[in-house]
Amino acid sequence: MSEQHAVLHAPTYTLVNNQSGDSWELPVISGAMGPDVIDIRRLYAETGCFTFDPGYTSTASCESAITYIDGEKGILLHRGYSIEQLAAESDYLEVCYLLLNGELPDAGQKEEFVEGITYHTMLHEKLNQLFQGFPRDSHPMAIMCGVVGGLSAFYHDSLDIHDPNHRKLAIYRLIAKMPTIAACAYNYEQGQPFIYPRNNLGFAENFLHMMFATPCEDYEVSPTVARAMDRILILHADHEQNASTSTVRLAGSSMANPFACIAAGIASLWGPAHGGANEAVLNMLGEIGTKDQIPGFIRRAKDKNDPFRLMGFGHRVYKNYDPRAAILRESCHEVLEELGVENEPLLELAMELERIALSDDYFLERKLFPNVDFYSGIIYRAMGIPVSMFTMIFAMARVVGWIAQWNEMIQDPALKIGRPRQLFTGSQRSEFVPMEQRGKS
Ligand code: CMC
Repeated sequence: MSEQHAVLHAPTYTLVNNQSGDSWELPVISGAMGPDVIDIRRLYAETGCFTFDPGYTSTASCESAITYIDGEKGILLHRGYSIEQLAAESDYLEVCYLLLNGELPDAGQKEEFVEGITYHTMLHEKLNQLFQGFPRDSHPMAIMCGVVGGLSAFYHDSLDIHDPNHRKLAIYRLIAKMPTIAACAYNYEQGQPFIYPRNNLGFAENFLHMMFATPCEDYEVSPTVARAMDRILILHADHEQNASTSTVRLAGSSMANPFACIAAGIASLWGPAHGGANEAVLNMLGEIGTKDQIPGFIRRAKDKNDPFRLMGFGHRVYKNYDPRAAILRESCHEVLEELGVENEPLLELAMELERIALSDDYFLERKLFPNVDFYSGIIYRAMGIPVSMFTMIFAMARVVGWIAQWNEMIQDPALKIGRPRQLFTGSQRSEFVPMEQRGKS
């Protein structure tokens, strides 16, 4: 990997105030790939104006060398490596190393990294009591937000964000403990005892073991299923400056500790427009119920007066097939075949929905293809993972992306606290009226 730094060009954009005739030269910066950016950092100081871009559709919020997406062409690269190659030839922990360190590990580095993660998978016993405080019917994402934020209270030895050793320790702990926290949240909901991690198992295998074994019986993990889970983790590992990653960066820009920042990212991921979409897909399929209902739901999705959207379709960045969805589609069919559940009615329904939406002009014109959440939900369902766990698995995989981006940001000498401005539309000035003069409604 050759890391290239952003290059400042001779100014090529001129901003003109048509009323006063004043004009300003705006510098343009080129990255290694992708659109140039217009540098507006001095805009307010020089013009007295802010820019307005709610939803950040035209705003690059930071400089990053980790992940590159070309949404028009359907390309996703981590540190220059294509997601297709990583999904086919690598494994999740190797991808974690790559995202964090900028290059694939050699054999010794990989061994050391895997061992480092493996020996941090257990949770502090006191954390068990934190789980017990949640109602049994809590959403597992609520538990995950609370427990991950709570880790800050247990690890004072890794909270100095300016110390590279503290940061490394916090990074290892977060990657290692997320599957244990996810499995504990599941077992807690089921009323079953927590299953401790097993150091002789691979990362994905260990997660499935903690989910499905009981103290009375081991769980034999099928290699196809473990491989599919590992692949799901790779595909969700990072996705540049999405809502949850930007949340982690914004939280971290105030120098908050990494556990608190990751808890903020988990909260953002929970929403149905982001990581919660995989759960929403299965809920939607349940609501659709039978194939003959599909046209009615498609009609609703196209109706501007109906807030209903086809969950698992569309993406802010990909205006072409999401490359992760293409890989998962393949995995999905493999898993369904291995588990012998091809004829499951809900899964048949999903395949029919995919077929109809992919041939409908509304979806084709707007480039609304099935996204990664469409297929991941179906695979989880086939693996016997309950719907409420889906977003937690996304969080478990994405933690490496969040923490790699946080680590990159903390080391950036240009780091400033994130502080957006606003277009104020409220009252200009109100006179305070004492309560006795306000009447009663
Ligand atoms: N069903 C029906 N119409 C849709 C959908 C959908 N799922 N998604 C977008 N549209 C329409 C939308 O109504 C608009 O139509 P028009 O141009 O006629 O007004 C057009 O497509 C563009 O939509 P948009 O809202 O401007 O697009 P966006 O980039 O703001 O939204 C999105 C992206 C992912 C939030 C949206 O496509 C969506 O809500 N999808 C369903 C939820 C989902 O699957 N989310 C997972 C995203 S992938 C994983 C992740 O990143 O977390």
